[in-house]
Amino acid sequence: MENVKILEHPLLQHKISRLRDETTGTNEFRALVEEIAMLMGYEALNDLPTENVEVKTPIETCKTPMLSGRKLAVVPILRAGLGMVGGITALVPTAKIGHIGLCRNEETHQPEEYYCKLPDTIGERQVVVVDPMLATGGSAIAAINFIKKHGGKNIKFLCIIAAPEGVRVLHRSHPDVQIYVGHLDRELNEDAYICPGLGDAGDRIFGTR
Ligand code: PRP
Ligand code: URA
Repeated sequence: MENVKILEHPLLQHKISRLRDETTGTNEFRALVEEIAMLMGYEALNDLPTENVEVKTPIETCKTPMLSGRKLAVVPILRAGLGMVGGITALVPTAKIGHIGLCRNEETHQPEEYYCKLPDTIGERQVVVVDPMLATGGSAIAAINFIKKHGGKNIKFLCIIAAPEGVRVLHRSHPDVQIYVGHLDRELNEDAYICPGLGDAGDRIFGTR
């Protein structure tokens, strides 16, 4: 599928396997989510524009590339997406951060919105939406609908684990959005959880339940 990239780096896969392990505790889980976000961000942002600027080294003056042009907005889907923000801002500290609060209704599996706040300049920025889990795709589609309604145009979506169903519907609803997946899992179960997955990402990041 065009605009869908499944990442395969061994370091990423190792860290995702650690996340899946039910004996991995909250502290390690949170650290892993951030590290994975950084590795995924490194890949997803490989088309950021640069321009040559003059820098004086201790040896001589040279022209050397630095980031230019379009600025970044990171938009986590609350709650679990919050765990990925630090990994991206470690790479691009000047990024603005928006928040989209969505929670899946446990019976209908549909996302319900409870909070949204985006930077005013969202339309001028490269938007990176982050959420560890892409299951039915409902949350990601709702978040991106909201971002587009507020003028967001250049959008990438980063998730650590995805179900094939989620990738399909997200791509169908937003074919212009570049989707980056850390690992494509087998399927959803009857409760719309990803199998084998890692359980409830938000609960594991924040130590709830
Ligand atoms: C999880 C996850 C995604 C969503 C994915 O969040 O972090 O946002 O489910 O499922 P979907 O693709 O079927 O919409 P959840 O609603 O459990 O909220 P939380 O992050 O607050 O735990
Ligand atoms: N949300 C999660 O946190 N995990 C899943 O498997 C599906 C949705």
